[in-house]
Amino acid sequence: MKELKILAVLVVFTLLTYIGIEPFAHKEMNPAVAPANFNYEQEDIDLASVRVEEAKIALKKAEDKLAQNTSDQNLINAVESAKKDIELRENDLSAYKELWAQVNKIEALKGDADSGAGAVELCLACHSLNSQDRPNALTDEELSQNYGVVLPDLSLAGAIYDKKFLAALIINPAQALKITKKFNDENPFLMSATPVSYDGEFDEASAQSVADIIAYLQSIAPQNATDKEVFESACVRCHDMRYDAVYSPSEKTALKAYMGSNPPDLSMMIRSRLADYLENFINDPQKKLDGTAMPRVGLTKEHTEQVIAYMDKVGDSKKEERVVVGIGMIIFFAILALLAYLWKVGVWRDLH
Ligand code: HEC
Ligand code: HEC
Repeated sequence: MKELKILAVLVVFTLLTYIGIEPFAHKEMNPAVAPANFNYEQEDIDLASVRVEEAKIALKKAEDKLAQNTSDQNLINAVESAKKDIELRENDLSAYKELWAQVNKIEALKGDADSGAGAVELCLACHSLNSQDRPNALTDEELSQNYGVVLPDLSLAGAIYDKKFLAALIINPAQALKITKKFNDENPFLMSATPVSYDGEFDEASAQSVADIIAYLQSIAPQNATDKEVFESACVRCHDMRYDAVYSPSEKTALKAYMGSNPPDLSMMIRSRLADYLENFINDPQKKLDGTAMPRVGLTKEHTEQVIAYMDKVGDSKKEERVVVGIGMIIFFAILALLAYLWKVGVWRDLH
């Protein structure tokens, strides 16, 4: 009877930890956000709307504080800056609405891969296209010096990036990558030099050439890239994966100066962040980590999963082995417990 009571206490406390405390701690450390949404149009408009609402709540709070102490200059400033913040966020929301409306016009056009093969020369002024024997004219070192980062090769671009994201990226890269805090009219983003860039006017011919470039990139992209190839194409211009001897070609000092922070090695990220977090973060870094230096990458759901599968394989290569050993241990202890019980019964029978 006494043993049963001890067992009951143990069970209750274990359950309390796992069902109560553990999820609570997770929630506190890692506030819940809306799930990953690979419909990037909806994702961008939703998040921008949430940010506007948050700014309105902040203004309300600032005004309430000011009402209690109307002469405090700090509180007056806080209200002013909260109002500015709302304006900025409302501008961001309308920028996304406008961008995606343009993308939808392009989406309605039929892209022609043959014309795209010519139009893509615009892109090859900066990018390489190795699968078509078009290496970059600049070395990795020169690219790092000029751009802060070795620009991605476009061989897989037509497959791994969401089609509509690609259109958004071509017409307004800084907005699509969500780096407008850093790059704007005063400090234009380098890719904005693309002649097809959207600058308030967007004619039919430009729209058609964007559709053509995308059709061309899709026509040359292999459909069966491995998990590692997808990772290398999408992430390795910034991140290392040391446990698999994968190193970024970008020069570290230039990269840090460009990004404003060091992209971490991703070898163990799957263990510290877990797959759910990663899917959400890759889908829209700003949603998970407001103000992060990492641009949004724009992969399709399928290719995001490939990236995570690769990170899982490298960072947690012993996972399958661990599961097998774990089950073995449970069986071992179950048999041991049974034997111990039988032994105890045997010993006590002789004593009574
Ligand atoms: C003036 C140089 C320049 C031109 C021209 C250019 N790009 Fe880029 N591209 C960049 C830079 C700079 C980056 C961003 C590098 C970074 O921040 O990681 C980039 C990034 C990209 C990315 C990666 C985006 C992501 O989500 O990770 C793709 C895809 C891309 N460009 C496609 C194109 C296409 C297609 C064209 C032609 C329509 C093009 N680029 C034209 C400079 C250029
Ligand atoms: C243009 C550069 C760039 C690209 C491309 C890029 N990242 Fe990052 N990433 C960064 C930077 C910079 C940080 C550090 C963010 C910070 O300090 O705010 C970061 C941080 C991260 C983190 C850590 C987030 C955290 O919770 O701390 C993860 C995970 C990550 N990146 C995964 C990826 C994956 C996966 C890809 C490819 C799909 C990718 N990144 C592509 C620049 C990049």
